[in-house]
Amino acid sequence: MSDSPASADPWRDADAQPNIAQLAKTLEVRGRAPAHARLRRRFLRFVPVRAGDRVLEVGPGTGTVLRDLAALVGRRGAVVGVDPSRYLVRAARTLCRATPGGRITVRLGDGARLPFAAGRFDTALAITVILHVADPLTVVREMARVVRPGGRVGLQDQDFGLVAAAHPDRALTERILSGVAARIYAEPHSGRRLPALLRAVGLERVRVRSDVYQDTTLEPFTQSFLERRAENAVRFGIVDAATAARWLDGFNALVADGAFVLTMNYFGAVGVKPPASR
Ligand SMILES: C[S@@+](CC[C@H](N)C(=O)[O-])C[C@H]1O[C@@H](n2cnc3c(N)ncnc32)[C@H](O)[C@@H]1O
Repeated sequence: MSDSPASADPWRDADAQPNIAQLAKTLEVRGRAPAHARLRRRFLRFVPVRAGDRVLEVGPGTGTVLRDLAALVGRRGAVVGVDPSRYLVRAARTLCRATPGGRITVRLGDGARLPFAAGRFDTALAITVILHVADPLTVVREMARVVRPGGRVGLQDQDFGLVAAAHPDRALTERILSGVAARIYAEPHSGRRLPALLRAVGLERVRVRSDVYQDTTLEPFTQSFLERRAENAVRFGIVDAATAARWLDGFNALVADGAFVLTMNYFGAVGVKPPASR
């Protein structure tokens, strides 16, 4: 389903990745990381998602957000996910099967061509998705189309210009983190640009909430994030394998000293669809 087969971003076309099972696992590991679960739920309250709402999530992956949404909308509400990856749609259906709360439906589809009539949902969300899509404006325009007048569109993304990591070699850390993000993502600063995207499709009363993922113990999600950055730094020729290994060892030494710190900024933005008559 990728519009850009040459993209280095694995989430552009998850089904084409040989390590799709591992990628899916990272979504679940991230979803369960307490700091990540807190910032995701703070964003859902900020939107806000309410009991009885009909909510669409574009790009649900394995469904960590779908499960939170089902609890928020309750039995009177409904939650629908649309993802272009067959593997992830199957995984989300399995993982969401026994979830209490609102009914969860997961469909195969592309956020740039949502398979729904206009005005069908109270709220449409994309969480760590806009960063990955080939044409963010088209996806956000589609999200605005399928919510009712007065309904909300909410976006949340990391901003890879705002990752701070303590490390004895500061220059190497900057070279790897910025260098890899610039080669993978069309817009590594996606987070801070979300409010402008909402305004560009005609949404009103746009509000912004920034939040921070913080880890001081090198949790499994952070560890896999740093390992993937190291692997990609070698793949893109930013550093050699020995330097990448030395970089990872630097973090482990900090953990041993109780001095590990990594933060990553997330931006959330919400806009309201104006009444149809204006
Ligand atoms: C990083 S994952 C985020 C999953 C989930 N929202 C979460 O926070 O755990 C990105 C997801 O966006 C999906 N995706 C990529 N391109 C898409 C598109 N054009 N339309 C809808 N989803 C897309 C991917 O298949 C993947 O499931």
